[in-house]
Amino acid sequence: MSVHNEIRRVTTHRLSEMKLRGEKIAMLTAYDYSMAQLVDEAGIDIILVGDSASNVMAGHTTTLPITLNEMIYHGASVVRAVNRALVVVDLPFGTYQGNSREALHSAIRIMKETAADAVKLEGGEEVLESVKRILSAGIPVMGHLGLMPQSIHKFGTYTVRAKEEAEAEKLLKDSKLLEEAGCFGIVLEKIPASLGEQVAREVRIPVIGIGAGGGVDGQVLVLHDMLGITQQFSPRFLRRYHNLAAEIKGAVGNYINDVKSTDFPSEKEQY
Ligand code: KIV
Repeated sequence: MSVHNEIRRVTTHRLSEMKLRGEKIAMLTAYDYSMAQLVDEAGIDIILVGDSASNVMAGHTTTLPITLNEMIYHGASVVRAVNRALVVVDLPFGTYQGNSREALHSAIRIMKETAADAVKLEGGEEVLESVKRILSAGIPVMGHLGLMPQSIHKFGTYTVRAKEEAEAEKLLKDSKLLEEAGCFGIVLEKIPASLGEQVAREVRIPVIGIGAGGGVDGQVLVLHDMLGITQQFSPRFLRRYHNLAAEIKGAVGNYINDVKSTDFPSEKEQY
């Protein structure tokens, strides 16, 4: 391939330029090779190999059970498909909260075994030492504040976070701590739009929202939710761009009928 045909990859530097220019950043999850290829070819800026794979891929009710090995499997599958997007892999629950040494070890495994571009982890001040240690090894880190699904047993519900002043102040402080530590971006999940806008205004790094309003620097959704593959999950922030569940069930129904009626395979579909 000549230099002129080479695809210009999205880097953390390009993301900060996008924020400076006021160009919104589009991010989606992907967990496997085939979907990641489609999402990348469509021109997405960031692909998140989210620990939501625990729910979407494995059918768990929370993100807690997914393991580091499983995240590495998903991450490596996605990276093999991607030519342009920045690929971020979630550090799963229990692989970075214990101590910063363990956090670094987990992040290094992700970077070595998946060839991803960055890792993401949940929390602010509580995990700052881990964030700094991972960054000190040259690994780009994305923060995640607001609703943090790995702490669901502490929160008790998946309702909107940081509506009260004290929690909003902590979120703002944590955002600034993550920025000062050197994170290249922050995901804010399910918080009031006014707070999302304030954080995006007060930090220089890109702020990507999921249910954090339109005043942030970009948006992220879970691919299977926005495509209408998952059916039970309908929070207010979710815009469905397709009803793939109905299309898939229709196609599978047609296949079943064709097999049962011996319409498939036809003469042309045999050797
Ligand atoms: O795991 C995930 O999919 C996420 C998004 C909800 C941001 O963290």
